[in-house]
Amino acid sequence: MIFAGYIVKRVALPLLAWGSLCKTEALASAGFENCEALVDAGLAEIVFLPTNPAYDESLTYYWSATTRDVKPSCFLQPRSTEDVAQALRALSKTSGVDDVAIRSGGHSPWASNNIAGGVTFDLSLFNQVVYSGDTHVASIGPGAKWGPVMLEIEKYNRTVTGGRVGDVGVGGLLLGGGLSFYTGKRGLACNDVVNFEVVLANGSVIDANAKENPGLFKALKGGSNNFGIVTRFDMLTFEATPGGIYGGPNSFAYDHKESLLNTFVRMIDINEKNIADTAFLLLVFNSPGPASITIMEINTDGLENSTSFAPLRDVPVTFRDLKRQTYGELITEYQQAAGFRKVWFTLCFKNDVDIMNKAASLWEELTAKAEIVFPGGGWGLQMVFQPLAKFYSQVGGGQNVLGLDESLNHDSVIWLADATLTTSEQEAYFQDVMGDLTERLEAYTVEKGGNTQWRYLNYANPSQDPLRTYGEDNVRLMKEVAAQYDPDGFFQERVSSGFKLSKVDGG
Ligand SMILES: Cc1cc2nc3c(=O)[nH]c(=O)nc-3n(C[C@H](O)[C@H](O)[C@H](O)COP(=O)(O)OP(=O)(O)OC[C@H]3O[C@@H](n4cnc5c(N)ncnc54)[C@H](O)[C@@H]3O)c2cc1C
Ligand SMILES: *[C@@H]1O[C@H](CO)[C@@H](O)[C@H](O)[C@H]1NC(C)=O
Ligand SMILES: *[C@@H]1O[C@H](CO)[C@@H](O)[C@H](O)[C@H]1NC(C)=O
Ligand SMILES: *[C@@H]1O[C@H](CO)[C@@H](O)[C@H](O)[C@H]1NC(C)=O
Repeated sequence: MIFAGYIVKRVALPLLAWGSLCKTEALASAGFENCEALVDAGLAEIVFLPTNPAYDESLTYYWSATTRDVKPSCFLQPRSTEDVAQALRALSKTSGVDDVAIRSGGHSPWASNNIAGGVTFDLSLFNQVVYSGDTHVASIGPGAKWGPVMLEIEKYNRTVTGGRVGDVGVGGLLLGGGLSFYTGKRGLACNDVVNFEVVLANGSVIDANAKENPGLFKALKGGSNNFGIVTRFDMLTFEATPGGIYGGPNSFAYDHKESLLNTFVRMIDINEKNIADTAFLLLVFNSPGPASITIMEINTDGLENSTSFAPLRDVPVTFRDLKRQTYGELITEYQQAAGFRKVWFTLCFKNDVDIMNKAASLWEELTAKAEIVFPGGGWGLQMVFQPLAKFYSQVGGGQNVLGLDESLNHDSVIWLADATLTTSEQEAYFQDVMGDLTERLEAYTVEKGGNTQWRYLNYANPSQDPLRTYGEDNVRLMKEVAAQYDPDGFFQERVSSGFKLSKVDGG
């Protein structure tokens, strides 16, 4: 059973053999010159050509089948920062375009982390977690996954602002901002990074923190892969709640929509007085249905009876699993299935029941239409609503380039439309119809005076432009930093996958 888009423990939908969808023409010969340059630089042991079984292993590591479908000429799997530096020195001496990519945890739904016919850095060996009791700082590798990271730090009764699904990677999440269960208490996860170790295009290894390279320090907090390859994140930790956090999923029949949407909106309305409460609401449809609603509720202080969630106790559930456990245990228990094709779109809008209802009715319409086009299973479409209360931007505001201190002018909701698909025909169809739905919903929010400018990079479709939504000043800062640390534009022209500053107007 797919549970709210999450696979509970080990139960999975049958996966299609994605191997049958491979594009053989992707192995462009030009890309192999870069692989050869890496071999010539003495890195042969860690260059995986398609003939090497390690190549397939590295490809299968991707979470989304959309990304697995993209075939690089080789993977490079560095063992150390020095390997990364050596590789970048070698590659910056070759010429090319669109031929290098960077992957940490591999959880991007689209190929922002891979490149057909190029060299893909596979940072999965950078999975260290080292906690220092003296500084309370944890040094975390970009290729680590949040489940193991949390469980390790909890050994010291400490925690960090990490992700909410155990299998998701550290690198992409922190460089795009990062939503955790602690957003109400600490703001975006990137705020808790006190130092980045970064390898620049010319192979120099530098630290970026409040004192050294402060512009780069700020730009990396939201600016993604536009400046260098981050090889270590040093993050502030804080005390874990003794006895654990409290919460878990509640699932309901879809006809309770009205009261559930109201409860969710009210939770955000009173969030500033209840900063330990957080939730996300999912509208779930796995063909052939029926539709259902899940609310994941969490109180990070471990309270069972928080005011925010009291109304949920009066609604009959089809499934409920609330308990006290550590953050690491919770995110290890609930994972989302890998190996499906994915299409995501995101918006951000005012916390308002009418807008929530509009989103739900567009979703009802689309799932009904898609069920006629692709009857009888093999796809799912969910909408995920998450809190972005205005006060979150004041927690650590101005430390990052997300611009929320300027743009978050009302309590808001981050909206994610998330399709889980099995064929490329479905993927093309949903890219089209979800794009259309997103435009219609955005137009509705604008009409109601309820659009919130910011778009979350880690949820955005490649057709969206999240960096621009950080605001002119932040775009200017990021462009200055890119020009200073990457004067030849390696991370624009060569590392072309992802959201690129060079494609953003203004600044
Ligand atoms: C099941 C699931 C649950 C999720 N839950 C959350 C959540 O709770 N909170 C949240 O905020 N987001 C969440 N996300 C979104 C998540 O933040 C992104 O998918 C993010 O990209 C994951 O990081 P990664 O390291 O796995 O990504 P990757 O796919 O490896 O990388 C993503 C992007 O970052 C760049 N990048 C990665 N590492 C580096 C590096 N070291 N140096 C330079 N550039 C780099 C890549 O080039 C790529 O463009 C979730 C996603 C999924 C699929
Ligand atoms: C963590 O807390 C528990 C319970 O209070 C205690 O028994 C244990 O010694 C603590 N561990 C560390 C490493 O401080
Ligand atoms: C929580 O609510 C339940 C049922 O309403 C009640 O029995 C219990 O005592 C409450 N617990 C606390 C800690 O308030
Ligand atoms: C590498 O680039 C940085 C940023 O442009 C520069 O400061 C540094 O001197 C360069 N290092 C070398 C070895 O050229």
